[in-house]
Amino acid sequence: MPDLIIDGRPVTVPKGTPVIAAAEALGIVIPRFCWHPALGAAGACRMCAVMFLEGPVKGLEMSCMVPAADGMVVSTGHPEAVAFRSRVVELLMANHPHDCPVCDEGGHCLLQDETISGGHALRRFPGRKRTYLDQDLGPFIQHEMNRCIHCYRCARFYQEYCGYFDFGPMQNANRVYFGRFASGPLENPFSGNLADICPTGTLTDKPARFTSRRWDCQRAPSVCLHCSLGCNTVALSRYRAIARIEARENPAVNGHFICDRGRYSFGFATSAERPRQARVDGVPTNVDAAVTQAAARLGKVVADHGPSAVAVAAGARSSLETLAALAALARTGGWQGPAVFPDRATQAAVTTALALLDGGRARSLAAVAKADAVLCLGVSALCDAPMLALSLRQATRADAAVIVADPRPVALPLPFSHLPLPPTSLAEALTLLAGPAPADAAAIQQRLPLFPHLWAAVEQASQTFAAAKRPVIVFAPPYAAQVAAILRDDARTGLFPVLSGPNAAGAALLAAPDAPSLDALAAAIETGDVRALILAEADAAAASPKLAAMLGRLETLVVLDNLPTPGFAAAKVFLPTQTLFESGGTLCNNEGRLQYAAPVAPPGEPVSRDGHGDHPPRDYARKLPGTDPQPAAGLCAALAAAMGLSMPAPSFAAATGIAPGALGASGARVTKFPAFPPAVPPEPLDAAKGLVVVRDDALFGTDEPGRYAALARAQAPAVPVVRLHAADAATLGLPDGAAVAVALGERACDAVLAVHGDMARGVLVVPRLPQWAGLPPVLDPTSLRRRQP
Ligand code: SF4
Ligand code: FES
Repeated sequence: MPDLIIDGRPVTVPKGTPVIAAAEALGIVIPRFCWHPALGAAGACRMCAVMFLEGPVKGLEMSCMVPAADGMVVSTGHPEAVAFRSRVVELLMANHPHDCPVCDEGGHCLLQDETISGGHALRRFPGRKRTYLDQDLGPFIQHEMNRCIHCYRCARFYQEYCGYFDFGPMQNANRVYFGRFASGPLENPFSGNLADICPTGTLTDKPARFTSRRWDCQRAPSVCLHCSLGCNTVALSRYRAIARIEARENPAVNGHFICDRGRYSFGFATSAERPRQARVDGVPTNVDAAVTQAAARLGKVVADHGPSAVAVAAGARSSLETLAALAALARTGGWQGPAVFPDRATQAAVTTALALLDGGRARSLAAVAKADAVLCLGVSALCDAPMLALSLRQATRADAAVIVADPRPVALPLPFSHLPLPPTSLAEALTLLAGPAPADAAAIQQRLPLFPHLWAAVEQASQTFAAAKRPVIVFAPPYAAQVAAILRDDARTGLFPVLSGPNAAGAALLAAPDAPSLDALAAAIETGDVRALILAEADAAAASPKLAAMLGRLETLVVLDNLPTPGFAAAKVFLPTQTLFESGGTLCNNEGRLQYAAPVAPPGEPVSRDGHGDHPPRDYARKLPGTDPQPAAGLCAALAAAMGLSMPAPSFAAATGIAPGALGASGARVTKFPAFPPAVPPEPLDAAKGLVVVRDDALFGTDEPGRYAALARAQAPAVPVVRLHAADAATLGLPDGAAVAVALGERACDAVLAVHGDMARGVLVVPRLPQWAGLPPVLDPTSLRRRQP
């Protein structure tokens, strides 16, 4: 731990800390362009020069390139250092087009800030400026190369940090070009971070182009809604529309970055299709009238059939505040629920997965990045939880081994071993790969008899995992019981479950343990035991096709939502809810971390749809349109009051052990999860009967809010893609790229077939979309046919 003095103040920092970071520990921000805490030093910009007065280094040096050492005395404001930095800025600006008035970076531009703070106001360069042609880099990033100062942050992030190589530096000397060989969409699913890390206006956020200056926007810390990892974001809103999403640093979760799904799927909140008005029997009305109607209809069902004829169901995208209110409402009314999970087996799997985290086994994304061996069981990181792929990449950069046992074709920007085993073999594979002792060849051959081509890979992976000091098992909940069976007492092996939905862990904490599953609710509706349902912020068609099919049979269906789901269309009474951007709320991520998203956008239709173009309307003395949506928790309280129920103030503190005000900057972790519910073994899959169906998230457009976001939806293939192993496709006589139809009851789902050699045999991979939700777990291969043109 070196001790040094910077600007007369002593500081002690961990060994290896560069002087620029040591100064930051004192609150002294040394100018910089190329240094970034996640990317380290490149020494490219020469902007961080400081004077070393005493110690092992003397004179003017770059503070990002010099590690802090004992005895150093550093001056950041030394006249020579200040003059040097001022000249550097002047040189960097020599070729800059000075187009700040039309540049989207204006207002949060590091180059602008350093130019002004460096005192460089007079342009003395008389020569001809260097110019470049820009490229079209796809829908997310705008390219303006003339503004580039060659700090190399983009290239280092893109290639070294993320592992993608379609973008980078070309040419040399004074004409380095940062781009692609040819125009085309960036392949990197984390490309949006370029807009955050580029210190100039060279790479900016294309969807937000020309929409706002930073100072025009309301900003607030938020949490991503598009998978279970809970990455931290900053939401920016202007004129009642979300203008953009940026990454927010949380060293324990997402570090400095987020994925493109999380950054560009916010459009659901301001979509023109978003239902903003209450309805009764399909007729628009005001919220108070709708609440009164809902209360009257629910009251009638209670009077006629008793309280157990009313049920409450919710989803995994509601906040803890909403779930707590729904739970309090159900308890107060004596109603069933809230039900969240499609079936008891799923609920048991999720709660088992979370209960395994007790006792210090939970690992964060940051901890996964520091693991020396990671086994991903039934998890394809880029699809299921994109930022996990970035953590795995950092682990492999430090020589960790990554083993992915998953039936799907898996693409990751890192070296890894893929064991394409069908779901029926993954439990055995876990025992062999991460079991108490390294598996020997005989055991492998006995327990994975069908896969001789994988035996050597399993043996090597098993030995690697056994020798690891910081191993982590990343797993999907269906394998939680098997993970529990192989864990030893020591907490050496960390766990990282990947769940479905941003608040799936919160739902597992707050859903009534005795609540029926969504499928069981469907059965109870069919028998007439349940006659009224309150469905809150859940797409029943995706979560439980059985329940979706039964909605029409209910006497009363009260839907609370902010997305135009099939439930909204079927609702007898609809109550519009605010999004997380409007109401704020707390979410519990996959490792049990509670994080608060603050409200940022005022409710109401975006001004772009209410005013004259982008200008706010000129008649001010009227109610803003689209302001009916209310926080779902408030609607629950209003419903209880209208029914004369005395509902206690809802709170998630008892269920989580964490008070709402006790979330630190990094969030607070739940340390005690509920005990295992009675294990409900899933029905064994009989692979002999046909193709085992495996569901797959796409990077865009398969998560629930993302399905209703136009920009995210536009990135998904127009026709869904299903995947088969080449040998299975040959047996069925289906070529790669064939237009196929999958029979599903009386209807058929159209798709394009993609044939792969690196996936499990006997498996059909389908997108996780509502229209595919009703597929049986094992599909008769004759249900998959070539479609006639
Ligand atoms: Fe959002 Fe998940 Fe991407 Fe993180 S990894 S930004 S939580 S979608
Ligand atoms: Fe040190 Fe660029 S920040 S040389």
